Amino acid sequence: MTTATVVAHPRGVERLITGQATSDGAGVKLTRVLTQPLQRRLDPFLMLDAFGTDNPQDYIGGFPDHPHRGFETITYMIAGRMRHRDSAGHEGLLQNGGVQWMTAGRGVIHSELPEQEEGRMEGFQLWLNLPGQDKMMAPWYRDIQSGDIPEFSTPQGVTVRVIAGASHGVSGAVQRQATQPLYLDLHLPAGASFAQALPPEHNAFVYVYRGELRVGDTQVPAQRMAILQNGADHDGVLLRSETPTRALLIAGKPLKEPIAQYGPFVMNRQDEIFQAVEDFRAGRFAAP
Ligand code: CO
Repeated sequence: MTTATVVAHPRGVERLITGQATSDGAGVKLTRVLTQPLQRRLDPFLMLDAFGTDNPQDYIGGFPDHPHRGFETITYMIAGRMRHRDSAGHEGLLQNGGVQWMTAGRGVIHSELPEQEEGRMEGFQLWLNLPGQDKMMAPWYRDIQSGDIPEFSTPQGVTVRVIAGASHGVSGAVQRQATQPLYLDLHLPAGASFAQALPPEHNAFVYVYRGELRVGDTQVPAQRMAILQNGADHDGVLLRSETPTRALLIAGKPLKEPIAQYGPFVMNRQDEIFQAVEDFRAGRFAAP
């Protein structure tokens, strides 16, 4: 059951962003779409990486043991198989269309290693901030297999995978009170449109990974992020496709707290960062 969504005053595009080619982990090639200078603008989101390659040399090293503290990582695998293990004893296989949602909280050390030696590896990792009061919570994670991600189709044939939040009356796999994240993977056929209601104060962006979208007067090509305008007069966004297109639509409620980041540690203040580094060096992340 879905409910019709009407957006009367859609948001336009404030800015188009081209991601930065980089590598992380043990030489994994990726595109950093949401970079550190955009963290305030796109609060509560801290980072979005896109990876996609048919060349094993670009991914085979994976992400060996590394720590996180103070936020959540959401890994969405479009194609490929990645095994993750963490210091709390959790282990799982992330594959084809599945999501791993990990709340680092006060700290985990984990690895993410490809479980394939050839073929395509494609997906995304989004970092979602935690409010200050939750940054030192116990770590938590959930593996969500592809078949467990709520999905629906609109009358125009748009397939909507609801990873977080809610769309057209369909609740996603994960909900978060403080940041109210919306995370949709949209598959649009040629000539379709899709309306999504968005609270005006929430920060929102679209990342097109196949095809292209029209948002208001702006054409958003593949491999571009469109930051959507905020404004009290807007009630959502309207996306149109001329060719078959796949895109992520991501939005959330800003925390409006100070952000102090040092690599994989994201806290509110610098002294908390020093503490994180000290705790990590002293081996205090390893205990479950
Ligand atoms: Co990680």
